Amino acid sequence: MKQQLEQIVVTAADLLQNAATAAEIDEIRVKILGKKGELTNILKQVGTLSPEERPLVGQLANEVRSKIENILAERSAIIKKEEIAARLASEKIDVTMPGKAGEIGYKHPLTTVLDEIKEIFLGMGFSVASGPEVEFDYYNFEALNIPPNHPARDTQDTFYITDNILLRTQTSPVQVRTMEQQKPPIRIIAPGRVYRSDAVDATHSPLFHQIEGLVVDKGITMGDLKGTLETFAKRLYGADAVVRFRPHHFPFTEPSAEMDIMCFSCGGEGCRLCKGEGWIEILGCGMVHPKVLENCNIDPEQYSGFAFGLGLERVVMRRYKIDDLRLFFENDLKFFKNIY
Ligand code: DAH
Repeated sequence: MKQQLEQIVVTAADLLQNAATAAEIDEIRVKILGKKGELTNILKQVGTLSPEERPLVGQLANEVRSKIENILAERSAIIKKEEIAARLASEKIDVTMPGKAGEIGYKHPLTTVLDEIKEIFLGMGFSVASGPEVEFDYYNFEALNIPPNHPARDTQDTFYITDNILLRTQTSPVQVRTMEQQKPPIRIIAPGRVYRSDAVDATHSPLFHQIEGLVVDKGITMGDLKGTLETFAKRLYGADAVVRFRPHHFPFTEPSAEMDIMCFSCGGEGCRLCKGEGWIEILGCGMVHPKVLENCNIDPEQYSGFAFGLGLERVVMRRYKIDDLRLFFENDLKFFKNIY
């Protein structure tokens, strides 16, 4: 039995020497010192010994146990250290390595120019209004003096949702909504998305953006319209910009006009940019039609106003020399990166 006990120490030391993980160490501990372990098994036989031998073997067994426990503790301390070292090595971060910079986005050119235009009008005392993109026929057409069967409806290929609900084809319905909710003096711009059933190509998109403007007060004249819009043009295009007003027709204004800017590429001579005209059309405008005022319960005998509408995409395309409208909507980072 003495031999067996001494052998156990040798075996345990050997096994522990070869153990590589904390789990393996634990296995060995159970195998030798556990309730059904080898040492326990030997001690169960102590009863068969003579009374003289018992205390000697008992003492030896205790020594064996404490020897094995010492080796266990030693090895497990070493392995713990090794495991920590291995983990530190595998999780090591090289702080001198170059970082991976995620590419950040860019301000959309439509937003850049819209912000500039808003700033110009805010500076002239306007505020920004908005209205729904899903709109009633009444606001998009009827209240704007475009009754059913009016030819102006044909020029605005409309996405109808039901007979009287549609995707707005223009931002002009915001004029009506504003006049219904607000008493004059009114001075607003209303930028937003508009929709027309056009096939997509370089110059057409079923979704584009307009900026509407409306001023209503006592004594507003065509002079106010011209002064405001000329100031706007000079702030947007530079102090030397030259504008002209050309008679036109819109159902919701009377009289109506279009404002052109003298071609900034050829100075009015005529070139490719202005298609030989010398002038570039910027916006539609006019004095608010008395019927439109009446539709909004504003007395045209007391009040008058002017309105205007411009397409945002065309302004931006000329500014950044973009020749394809589709680029605005494809969200290709390379396009936005190189535009500014
Ligand atoms: N709503 C017109 C369009 O989409 C643009 C327009 C013209 C708006 C004249 C106006 C205006 O407010 O006075 O073609």
